[in-house]
Amino acid sequence: MTTTILRIDAGRNTPSAANSGKNHYSAPRQVWAERRRAMGAQGAQFGPDEPRSLWQNRIFSAGLLAFYTGTRLVRLDGRGRRNALDIQLVSRSISFPDLPKSFDGYRILHLSDTHLDCLPELVPVAARLLAGIEVDLLALTGDIHGHHRAPLSASTGPLAEWMKAVSVTDRRLAVLGNHDPADMVGALEELGFELLLNESTLLSRGKEHIVLTGLDDVHRFFTPHALRALSQSPEGFRIALVHSAEVADHAAAAGYSLYLCGHTHGGQICLPSGRPIITHLLVVGTPVSVSGGRGT
Ligand SMILES: [Fe+2]
Repeated sequence: MTTTILRIDAGRNTPSAANSGKNHYSAPRQVWAERRRAMGAQGAQFGPDEPRSLWQNRIFSAGLLAFYTGTRLVRLDGRGRRNALDIQLVSRSISFPDLPKSFDGYRILHLSDTHLDCLPELVPVAARLLAGIEVDLLALTGDIHGHHRAPLSASTGPLAEWMKAVSVTDRRLAVLGNHDPADMVGALEELGFELLLNESTLLSRGKEHIVLTGLDDVHRFFTPHALRALSQSPEGFRIALVHSAEVADHAAAAGYSLYLCGHTHGGQICLPSGRPIITHLLVVGTPVSVSGGRGT
């Protein structure tokens, strides 16, 4: 789980063109949902480079299971759970010369990979950590859920309780992760989140704005629409919300100033020095240009 408060500052500011705006939604959600369910039913992993077959996924899962069994045999699993519960709220202040002045000091609470159904013991720990937090924007970058057989309420119920303790003055934006089914969209909307599925929205203050682009998960459910959303977003200071880091290079090439993601859990499995053994990233892709119409 990732919990970070980001405070962004305007350095030497260059005012951008102002456009107050609404969400730049594109194709109907139903089209997106049907395609995503179809991809999920195939069992393959659609990453930004090429699909991994069902068998490759099964081999990877079997390897993870073997590793987990090994840790239980040598009694390391308890330590792993203790580490997973030892979460911290990290505060970072980042300066951008081109940030519109009216967004100077803008505070973003970034949450990711809560997987609340997998580790219920995390709920009270995180509730204490988040109580009383005041931010401008809440950004949730996916993997709210964990086990595909668990009901969504096992994840969204505790999340709803957390959200009561957090004061958000602007908006709550979310993207999905590889563990989140299409139905998570409706569940999160009921909690007051706006889902960005390969689309952008403007945050406005006075005559200035910044652009937030959110992608559907690119680790398992990548489509070219994700890269189009990055390359065809509105002008302005741009922030990308993506579940995993796999298209960070694409976002940088498209001019994004900030890329917020999770998925790696700070290294899924780390050596005692903190060096990650597994990051669970398929590829950090070479930027490519994508043309064509918008779409989810
Ligand atoms: Fe993930």
